[in-house]
Amino acid sequence: MTTSIGSGSPRTVIVTGGSRGLGAGIVQSFLDSGDRVATCSRSETQAVKEWETNPDYAGRFLFRAADIADREQSTQFVQAVIDEWGAIDVLVNNAGVARDGILALFTDEDSDTVIDLNLKATIHLTRQVVRNMLAHRSGRIVNISSIVGLTGYRGLTVYGATKAALDGFTRALARELGSRKITVNSVAPGYLKTEMSHGLDEAQLDQIVRRTPAGRLGDPDDIARAIQFLVDERNDWLTGQVLVVDGGLTC
Ligand SMILES: NC(=O)c1ccc[n+]([C@@H]2O[C@H](COP(=O)([O-])OP(=O)(O)OC[C@H]3O[C@@H](n4cnc5c(N)ncnc54)[C@H](OP(=O)(O)O)[C@@H]3O)[C@@H](O)[C@H]2O)c1
Repeated sequence: MTTSIGSGSPRTVIVTGGSRGLGAGIVQSFLDSGDRVATCSRSETQAVKEWETNPDYAGRFLFRAADIADREQSTQFVQAVIDEWGAIDVLVNNAGVARDGILALFTDEDSDTVIDLNLKATIHLTRQVVRNMLAHRSGRIVNISSIVGLTGYRGLTVYGATKAALDGFTRALARELGSRKITVNSVAPGYLKTEMSHGLDEAQLDQIVRRTPAGRLGDPDDIARAIQFLVDERNDWLTGQVLVVDGGLTC
C-alpha cells in the first residue's frame, strides 16, 4: 500500500457529507488542488452530478450514496474507496446534523439523531480509515467541530455536547497516532451561510454578524482553506489542536 503524502502527487481524500454546504466546498477545494476525492451523503445533489460528469475530474471523484450512521453502509463506503485507490491520505469528518430546541422539551429521538451521526458515526468511520492509515504509516485527519462546542449556544445543547466531544476525540486520537506520522486536528467553524444555519432566524443571524469582528458570516471556502493548511504534508508537527475559524466571533 503506497501513500501520496510527501510525494507531491495527488492525495486520496475522504470528505463525509460532501453533497452540499460546507462539505461541498471542501470537496471542491481538494478537486481544485488536483487530489482524488471520495464523498458520500444519503442523497445525490446537482453538485455531485456535475463532479461526476466533469471530464477534469475523471478518475479522481467518487460518490457513494450512504448513510454513515448505518455502520454497514459506512464500512462499505470506506471499503469502496480503498478498493478504488488503496491508501487513504486525508479524512475530513464533515457530515453532521443539528437539531435545535431547549433541552427540557428535546426528544430522545432528536438526541439520538444528533449523537448517532456527529459522534458515533464519525468514530466508526474514523476507525475504518485509521486502520488503513496505520498500514501505510501516514495520514491527516480533520474533524469538523463547531464554536458551539466551545462557547455553547442556547437551544443547541446536544449538538454542542457532540462537538465538544469531537474535540476530545481529536486530542486523544492525536496522542494515539502521533508516532505513526498521522496528525489529527479539529476545525471549529463559526456560523456559515449553509442550510444548517437556516435554523437561526434573521434576528439571530444579524446579531451574530454584528458581534463578528470580520463583519460577515463564513463561507465554505474560509473553512476549506484552513483544512488545506492542516493537511499540508509539511505540517507534521501540528496535531491535537482545535483551530477556530469564525471571523473573530469568539476571540
Ligand atoms: N453551518 C454552520 O454554520 C456550521 C457551523 C459550525 C460547524 N458546522 C459543521 O459543519 C459540518 C457541515 O455543516 P453544513 O452546514 O454544511 O451542513 P448541511 O448543509 O446540512 O450539510 C450536511 C451534509 O452532510 C450530509 N449528511 C447528513 N446526514 C448524513 C448521514 N447520516 N450520512 C451521510 N451524510 C450525511 C448531507 O447530505 P444528506 O442530507 O443527503 O445525507 C450534507 O451533504 C457539520 O459537521 C456541522 O456541524 C456547520
